[in-house]
Amino acid sequence: MRIPPLVAVTCALAVCMLTGCKSLPGYPKHEWQPPQDQMNFHALYKQNCAACHGETGQGGMAIPLANPEFQALVDDQTLQQIISGGMPGTMMTAFAEKDGGTLTDPQVNAIIAGMRKEWAKPNAFGGMTPPAYEQPATGGDAEKGRQDYITYCVSCHEGPHDSITNSSFLALISNQALRTIIIAGRPDLGQPDWRNDKPGHPLTDQEVTDIVTYLGSLRVASPGQPYPSHP
Ligand code: HEC
Ligand code: HEC
Repeated sequence: MRIPPLVAVTCALAVCMLTGCKSLPGYPKHEWQPPQDQMNFHALYKQNCAACHGETGQGGMAIPLANPEFQALVDDQTLQQIISGGMPGTMMTAFAEKDGGTLTDPQVNAIIAGMRKEWAKPNAFGGMTPPAYEQPATGGDAEKGRQDYITYCVSCHEGPHDSITNSSFLALISNQALRTIIIAGRPDLGQPDWRNDKPGHPLTDQEVTDIVTYLGSLRVASPGQPYPSHP
């Protein structure tokens, strides 16, 4: 028996309405899935990170992840936390599925392993021990930091173009990111690492903590922005 076209269309539409159009002939059998089987570092990096950290990790609006000093400074567990959970209150959002992102744990690990393989270098600190990665939430002295800032930083960061102490710059960057930049430098911008802020005198852990505390104290609290309590 031939089914009249109108009946066929009506049936198809009925099926469509009942099932959300997923069992129509010609419709793909499976719903679209995010590419969770993608485990290639370059593809994952390009898709998820390159827009802010640079096409080849060389930096952009965010720090260069291809800086060997950064790779040496930060351990796997910390990277996992940051990539999975993000840095709250900044453009660095959470990437793990469990935190609302799109990456599985194995994908996050593949990104970390790829960064290590491509961008870490042995002896990145030339035998010296850098200050600790993490900016402690307490224990910094803002007044000492202000003096250290004058001693170590103003020679390059002063005048009308000084963005570092500008509250709108500070509103967009966390204390941790400031600390990371002071220790590992930003070779893409010309910011020296902690050994070379002042030639001949590497900054101590406490000096870095104090300078970051000082810079953090310059943030202007404005309604709805989470910075005053940010570590
Ligand atoms: C939308 C822009 C954006 C994207 C996309 C992005 N990041 Fe970030 N990332 C940032 C910013 C901005 C910061 C600094 C945030 C802050 O102020 O703490 C940051 C910080 C980081 C840090 C910590 C650096 C530090 O200061 O110690 C790591 C590690 C990192 N990102 C890795 C990644 C990886 C890996 C990806 C891809 C899975 C990625 N990011 C995607 C903007 C981005
Ligand atoms: C030898 C010169 C020099 C010294 C010393 C120096 N900086 Fe910089 N710094 C730069 C340059 C150049 C840049 C890139 C241009 C800019 O952002 O002002 C930079 C960038 C930065 C940035 C990143 C700004 C951004 O756009 O993301 C931070 C944060 C920073 N410096 C903090 C410091 C602190 C804190 C000190 C003192 C401990 C310091 N710098 C000492 C030259 C220097």
